[in-house]
Amino acid sequence: MDNLSAPGAAPAAEAIPLFRPLRVRGLVLRNRIVISPMCMYSAPHSVATDFHLAHYSRFALGGAGLVIIEATAVVPEGRITHGDLGLWSDDQIEPLARVIAACQAQGAAVGVQLVHSGRKAARQRPWHGNGPMGEADAARGELSWPIASASAIPFGDGYLMPEALTLEGIGAVRQAFTAAAKRAVSAGADLVEIHAAHGFLLHSFMSPATNTREDAYNGDFDARHRFVVEVSEDLRDAIPDEMPLFVRISMHDAAEPARPFAETVKLAGLLGRHGVDVIDCSSGGIGGHSASTSGGATTLGFQLPDTAQIRNGSGMKTMAVGLITEPELANAAIEDGQTDLVAIGREALWDPNWPHHARAALGGPRYTDWPEQYGWWLARREPLLAKIMASSDRRAAPAIRSPQR
Ligand SMILES: Cc1cc2nc3c(=O)[nH]c(=O)nc-3n(C[C@H](O)[C@H](O)[C@H](O)COP(=O)(O)O)c2cc1C
Repeated sequence: MDNLSAPGAAPAAEAIPLFRPLRVRGLVLRNRIVISPMCMYSAPHSVATDFHLAHYSRFALGGAGLVIIEATAVVPEGRITHGDLGLWSDDQIEPLARVIAACQAQGAAVGVQLVHSGRKAARQRPWHGNGPMGEADAARGELSWPIASASAIPFGDGYLMPEALTLEGIGAVRQAFTAAAKRAVSAGADLVEIHAAHGFLLHSFMSPATNTREDAYNGDFDARHRFVVEVSEDLRDAIPDEMPLFVRISMHDAAEPARPFAETVKLAGLLGRHGVDVIDCSSGGIGGHSASTSGGATTLGFQLPDTAQIRNGSGMKTMAVGLITEPELANAAIEDGQTDLVAIGREALWDPNWPHHARAALGGPRYTDWPEQYGWWLARREPLLAKIMASSDRRAAPAIRSPQR
């Protein structure tokens, strides 16, 4: 693509920390901006559709360095809802491969987040109530299924009682994660992320609020984290050496008794010694709402300080997430060494072009890294737009708006 920036007007791309490439194992990300995994609950039979193709492609066209595909169940009973993506069957590979290839063709790397949702499985889609399934769901043909967790403790009043996973069941889930990771590799994914946060199955073993087992998977720090370490080791063996492995954790449980934060820092280092490359630092979800999606937050980027403590305390690469909406905030987080990657979730739903807009807002070259099908036109619109915006006639052109909201 032509370099369309005005000569001398903008610093070189690498001058902006948020846009410095990052190498993790054999993968080089074009910048530090990640689209956080977000369930769309829109996959009939847990298979990716044209909706997923369009939805994820928007983020790749929008300039993200990495797009992480939503929580994808490793077994049917590990789905949150009837609309979750899955990778427990070879039939699910090709439709997902289409989505991944479309994003990669636009320069984004693609990760697949793998999950077993444990005691938070078998629920309504958010817009159907976001709670346990009931009569209205049954009328829609959507029935509950038996669920499992670390211990037989339900998520809340009215929710299904999970069975405590047996040792045999733990082995089966490990095998399912491994098989699903291999399918993600077959689908062309650039990396795999293990979902060990938000109260899902792996997190339920980690937290004393949900793990009351009396076997080798409870007791001290090592015992409570045995399952996530085992899955990490399994996946490190299952995926190519050059492929990064991410793990999303909840830095804080948001439940009592809570894991001390020092344990989270220790966990990050432990995972690093078992083949994990990046700690994706989220919070909550073990009871009530996830701190990352609602409640609690009083500042933008509210999880950045704890993410920085994990990064500095463990030496691991990190991904920060949670109300990172402002380009300056994201850029400073990278520049100040608070994190290696920043993830945007809802902000990307608001503006899939956020990375392109952020680059312009941070003084970078405008339009050079947009898809040329867009950039060529936008660059040539710029002088006209500037002239109109500067003139007293700007009110006569209400349909033309600045790229920044
Ligand atoms: C629609 C939606 C779906 C989500 N699904 C997932 C998911 O599949 N996996 C996950 O780890 N987090 C999920 N989250 C949490 C986001 O990844 C992110 O951590 C959270 O929204 C906070 O970031 P934000 O303030 O930029 O939105 C979801 C959030 C939203 C809004």
